[in-house]
Amino acid sequence: MRIVITGGAGFIGSHLAERLLTSGHDIVIIDNFNDFYSPAVKRRNVAEIAGNADASGKTLLVCEGDIRDGEFVQAIFAQERPDAVIHLAAAAGVRPSIENPLLYEEVNIRGTMNLLQAAKEAGLRLFLFASSSSVYGNNPKVPFAEADPVDHPISPYAATKKAGELICHAYHHLYHINIACLRFFTVYGPRQRPDLAISKFVRLIDQEKPVPFYGDGSTSRDYTYVADIVAGIEGALHWISGGGKRYDVFNLGGSSPVSLNRLLTMIEARLGKKAILERLPMQAGDVERTFADLEKSSSILGYGPATAIEDGISRFIDWYHETKQRCHE
Ligand SMILES: NC(=O)c1ccc[n+]([C@@H]2O[C@H](COP(=O)([O-])OP(=O)(O)OC[C@H]3O[C@@H](n4cnc5c(N)ncnc54)[C@H](O)[C@@H]3O)[C@@H](O)[C@H]2O)c1
Repeated sequence: MRIVITGGAGFIGSHLAERLLTSGHDIVIIDNFNDFYSPAVKRRNVAEIAGNADASGKTLLVCEGDIRDGEFVQAIFAQERPDAVIHLAAAAGVRPSIENPLLYEEVNIRGTMNLLQAAKEAGLRLFLFASSSSVYGNNPKVPFAEADPVDHPISPYAATKKAGELICHAYHHLYHINIACLRFFTVYGPRQRPDLAISKFVRLIDQEKPVPFYGDGSTSRDYTYVADIVAGIEGALHWISGGGKRYDVFNLGGSSPVSLNRLLTMIEARLGKKAILERLPMQAGDVERTFADLEKSSSILGYGPATAIEDGISRFIDWYHETKQRCHE
């Protein structure tokens, strides 16, 4: 297939692009290389993907532009005639969405509609949407299952992801686009976004700088290793490619929540350094826990996370040291 990956220069998108090239697909990345974190990191990701494309013999095309620009998106679809879209580009992160909610509305809602509209115009039939575990808000029932109510988001980010799922359903219903909305649970691994906990903790502890630590450490997250997420996305791509009309929502998680205190202890042990904690109150918009029920995604998509948190953190720290060394050379 010829597959568009929006946000393909980012953390999850770059791993996905590498994997799909290896699986024999041609890839078109749409990304605006914005400065939510260093664009140089995203350009390095793309350079690494390009190396992979050469080895696979498949083509990689990088289209630099903004998904908020409907004409730009339509022109790429008209020119490239993709078979499928995997829509990962987003304004990501819970806390910044409270600071700048309208950006989240523009990118996550308008941007998603631009892509669905372009898909419709191009007669495209396969679409995956990156949703988030944050749609579950502070639901007291765990683990979180796809059939649970998700009508009480507690951040603009979560609300825009839920809106994205609803818009996807409307386009599926009207134009017979097969769509899976994938609720990712805190994804980590090499190239992880620098604003996320594991990446931030490792960097600051290693540099012996104060680590902002929100709440008493009892909040927990269902951390999911990026290779497991990529395998889940491939499973979903296979599922939407099956016959008939298909729309559904799936959890992709690790199904093994870890408290912030335990996460910190694991990282300290692996780095052989103690954190200097800067204790701060819980942040508005942060949920207390996430925990994925994987019954549906395992039975329908064949999804099963294979990476234990200790192994995943070890791999992240190995990658962190390698990258640090390479950047110093
Ligand atoms: N990382 C996680 O833990 C996690 C959890 C749940 C959901 N998600 C979702 O997964 C997706 C990928 O997340 P990530 O962690 O890889 O983030 P990321 O920020 O590393 O990647 C997103 C990419 O999208 C691009 N982008 C952003 N706005 C754009 C725009 N207007 N036009 C074109 N490109 C744009 C960015 O430049 C970036 O390269 C996002 O939709 C995010 O909401 C991530």
